[in-house]
Amino acid sequence: MTKNLSVLIVDDEVQLCKLIARKLKKTDVITYLAHSGNEALSIVKTQHVDAVILDYMLPDMTGLDVLKKIQKMNKRIPVVMLTAFSNVESAVSAMKLGAVDYLNKPMDLEELKNIVLKICNQKSNENKTIEKEVRDTFAFQSNKMKKIIDLLKQVSETDASILILGESGVGKTTLAKWIHEQSNRKKGPLLAINCATTPEFLLEGELFGNQQGTASEANHTESGKIAASSGGTIFLDEIGEISPNMQAKLLNVIENKQVMQLGKKDYQSVDVRIITATNKNLKELVKNRIFREDLYYRLNLIEIEIPPLRERKEDIPIFIEHQISLLNSKYNKDLKIDRKSMTIFQNHYWPGNIRELLNALERVHILKRFGTILPEDLVHTSFQFEPTDDDASTNHADNHNFLSGNLPQILEEVEEKMIKQALEETNGNQTKAAEKLGIARHTLIYKVKKFGLKI
Ligand SMILES: Nc1ncnc2c1ncn2[C@@H]1O[C@H](COP(=O)(O)OP(=O)(O)OP(=O)(O)O)[C@@H](O)[C@H]1O
Ligand SMILES: [Mg+2]
Repeated sequence: MTKNLSVLIVDDEVQLCKLIARKLKKTDVITYLAHSGNEALSIVKTQHVDAVILDYMLPDMTGLDVLKKIQKMNKRIPVVMLTAFSNVESAVSAMKLGAVDYLNKPMDLEELKNIVLKICNQKSNENKTIEKEVRDTFAFQSNKMKKIIDLLKQVSETDASILILGESGVGKTTLAKWIHEQSNRKKGPLLAINCATTPEFLLEGELFGNQQGTASEANHTESGKIAASSGGTIFLDEIGEISPNMQAKLLNVIENKQVMQLGKKDYQSVDVRIITATNKNLKELVKNRIFREDLYYRLNLIEIEIPPLRERKEDIPIFIEHQISLLNSKYNKDLKIDRKSMTIFQNHYWPGNIRELLNALERVHILKRFGTILPEDLVHTSFQFEPTDDDASTNHADNHNFLSGNLPQILEEVEEKMIKQALEETNGNQTKAAEKLGIARHTLIYKVKKFGLKI
């Protein structure tokens, strides 16, 4: 469990450093020793470090200064602070700044070892959860996707930048996570930023860093996401949206492997893999001089175009099976789907791709209480057509209308229709109608009032 974990021990007392190192090495932890703040920082910059044990009193700066600087470089490295017994205030400040724990000196080596191992195990569990999440949600069966995955496997060990293209909802973000999980950087951070939804004045700070109190007040992070993802991957979503100014800055990061913090004059070196995605035609943007050509070629060392779902129908059954089993556990049901309904789903045009498919299925699942999902259940998605290939290509606009819209509103419409129907069938007998619908009578009365139905 603790194999390959590396811990940096920072203390000017050389003997103490060695003692701690000996204790940790017994549990297979790799240790780095530093006896000054600057020494510690250069190790954090150049080596992979899972945790830091940091003394408060150092010859060249305080432990708090080192802690702040480490956090600027990579916020995810946990730091355990060692403080003098009498110095409670410094312990409190360290915790406020983000140290995960502190120990008073002279400390019990066994306790220190246990704290460090606990932190490292927590971190590896976090990584496992992300891995599991990606493994559980990343499915494919089609030859088109297999080819993409084969290509990505060939480059997974490299740091090649990857540009992912594809319509909305096709799985670009999911693929970016998968690539990170397959890479040598999987133990490092994966940070993402959506360039379309982050306003320009915030984007700069988010990417390159802020000085507190300057630039955007809304964003107080000192180090930007590019620096914070050093050792890992940064995923820049909707890259087609960034301004010329931002494009120039990004190009500089790629070419020089360093970022300059906003409002500061010094550069910070970064070691980061860049994955970008867009549903825009980036080549067209380059042609129209909206997107820099030099940046485009830097970003698309590997270019992946995820085909729309309608062009890889073989993937649909696996998404459906997977989603039904997830929904069954979420809603505590045991639903299945019949072959005909599956074919109907498979032949739909899916303009919103996987996202739309999963939403439509959830809608059907919510409204079906038990048994097997049949074509008539798809009425809630208004999938009432016998599928043919023609349908799939010509009727897509109509079908899409039925499926789009907001879920609560559609559920209300369905609810209203079902209540009306039940009341008609029971000649307005509320008790019987409520029974038929499987709801309490007072709920029915409330809903009748809410929808303004006449009895
Ligand atoms: N291979 C896959 N297996 C299972 N689920 C997937 C897969 N790819 C995507 N999904 C699911 O489909 C939905 C949409 O995926 P995602 O957000 O990655 O698409 P996108 O292309 O990034 O969309 P957008 O263009 O809106 O950013 C998500 O719920 C995601 O979990
Ligand atoms: Mg996305």
